[in-house]
Amino acid sequence: MTWRSTSTMPIPTPTANPPASASAPPASAAGLPDEATLGQLASEFFRALPGGGTSPAFSAASASPASQTPPSSLPDPTPAASADAGVSGLTLGEPVPRIQPGAAPGTASAAPTTLVANELGVPEAYAAALPFIAPLSSPTSLPPHAPAGAVSSPYYFLGEATALSSGHAAPAAERRATENHVVAHPFELPGDSALRRVLGELAGERTAPTAHPAGTGYYFVEPAIPAAAAATRFPAFDVNAVRRDFPILAERVNGKPLIWFDNAATTHKPQAVIDRLAYFYTHENSNIHRAAHELAARATDAYEGARSKVARFIGAASPDEVIFVRGATEAINLVAKTWGRQNIGEGDEIIVSLLEHHANIVPWQQLAAETGARIRVIPVDDKGQLLLGEYQRLLNDRTKLVAVTQVSNALGTVTPVAEIVELAHRAGAKALVDGAQSVSHMRVNVQAIDADFFVFSGHKVFAPTGIGVVYGKRDILEATPPWQGGGNMIADVTFERTLYQGVPNKFEAGTGNIADAVGLGAAIDYVERVGIENIARYEHDLLAYATQRLAPIPGVRLVGTAEHKASVLSFVLAGYRPEEVGRALNEEGVAVRSGHHCAQPILRRFGLEATVRPSLAFYNTCAEVDVLASVVQRLARGKGRAVV
Ligand code: ALA
Repeated sequence: MTWRSTSTMPIPTPTANPPASASAPPASAAGLPDEATLGQLASEFFRALPGGGTSPAFSAASASPASQTPPSSLPDPTPAASADAGVSGLTLGEPVPRIQPGAAPGTASAAPTTLVANELGVPEAYAAALPFIAPLSSPTSLPPHAPAGAVSSPYYFLGEATALSSGHAAPAAERRATENHVVAHPFELPGDSALRRVLGELAGERTAPTAHPAGTGYYFVEPAIPAAAAATRFPAFDVNAVRRDFPILAERVNGKPLIWFDNAATTHKPQAVIDRLAYFYTHENSNIHRAAHELAARATDAYEGARSKVARFIGAASPDEVIFVRGATEAINLVAKTWGRQNIGEGDEIIVSLLEHHANIVPWQQLAAETGARIRVIPVDDKGQLLLGEYQRLLNDRTKLVAVTQVSNALGTVTPVAEIVELAHRAGAKALVDGAQSVSHMRVNVQAIDADFFVFSGHKVFAPTGIGVVYGKRDILEATPPWQGGGNMIADVTFERTLYQGVPNKFEAGTGNIADAVGLGAAIDYVERVGIENIARYEHDLLAYATQRLAPIPGVRLVGTAEHKASVLSFVLAGYRPEEVGRALNEEGVAVRSGHHCAQPILRRFGLEATVRPSLAFYNTCAEVDVLASVVQRLARGKGRAVV
């Protein structure tokens, strides 16, 4: 595969921030044109293009059961305006006309014919790098206990990730790609160097980026299959089909199509997950005590099936190493309150990084206060990258635990967790990796990373809220005492003593979140059908595109420009408080988080209390990025006029 990606794109140079003006109008009066004006602008723009005014050609977008999913009212993510804006039409940073809502895909009058191959709304140079346009498959297998002929839903609950519809069945060799045939092999995403170059140039560097050193990679694929074959190994990626799988993306907000750029806070749920929950409550609902009755057996099978899917998804050696909890926060608290209390004492040291979410700071502070242990912090450079030399200096024989995030929720920095874990182990410490922001964006293999603990939240990977995971190495979990006590986690109870279950049950006291664990299994099935490598590639290019659109806007300061990033684009806009930018975006239907993102230490490292944080997922498009950029551009212009 030839991965051209951003390397073919001109690199925008950021404009110096204009001074903020005290007399500037409030964000709500920042001069955003109304829909009619935008429509007129769009029409004028399209007329000016070659072939303007005629309809584009659209491919048959999806094999998804369209009759079962709400039709998307979002403008087709092929805005010719935005597609051309980055290469030949508008100057980067110019407002991009919004496609008129309600224009049906394939009939949108506001798009030219010139972009037949460009369905993603990307400039041609990007389109060439996104060769994954093809229908998603829609497997139809039902749970084994579903009555014959009772196809109550078109979705595919218990089918394994490789269950492809016959029309799109991949050869076995290709299907293997969606299974967990992963080994420890550093792999640089195609195009990663291009993103580094964009970010490097934004940071004022003109030198070529250094090669990714072997052994510090973050992505793991089967090495026997060369990258050149990757494009054909995976079921093709079709963002239009993906979008139809997420019914909420058809929602309107303030009269505008919803644009969801708050994926770091939570992700939306595909219909397959929604249907799986409904199916559970309709056909399987029970507590999980297998022997009692038929529904208990169904619920137990579904719950334990989900545990197996999680284990496979993250590369655990066994489902017994997967503990269900409420989310990443509870997961870290569990480790702190069990393994931490058992293994960390006075004078011991816990290393975290400056990038951490509060959930990976506060439990360790509480433990330190309780035990007399000490917290040490790995600093970052001006791009938001961990300073590994400083980390090595922090390690010593008092270090008992290193707890680091794999992807920063505030900056998007991808950290070299395999290297961090290895250094921790060499110092005799254990390592916990917070995967809350990584599992939805990249292949994770806990054995390749060699993490002792790995945690994540289901809701950030297209699963329901209230379900999350602690992975722990079996020998460590077996030696760790339980946290909460009660039913389900015991083998035998007398008033004299209690015998506990083995792992993982001894950590799952009481009735857990059974249905949502099953929903997490369905979300993992969905992600694996799309292909996590496909997701990583697509999002990588989308992030590079968004970076290129936002960075040159006068007054925009990107916060976090690491060479390796995922999903997140934090920024501040001169003259506006982040919440004002967030409100202006919301008026246009764009959801971002504005605030401290539960990561105050890292924002303060950059002299900030808050940022605006768009965060991308694989159902986002370049067209949506263009809407975001146009709002920010208009705000920037509003201030400019006020200053003049
Ligand atoms: N951790 C979530 C975020 O980053 C809530 O927004």
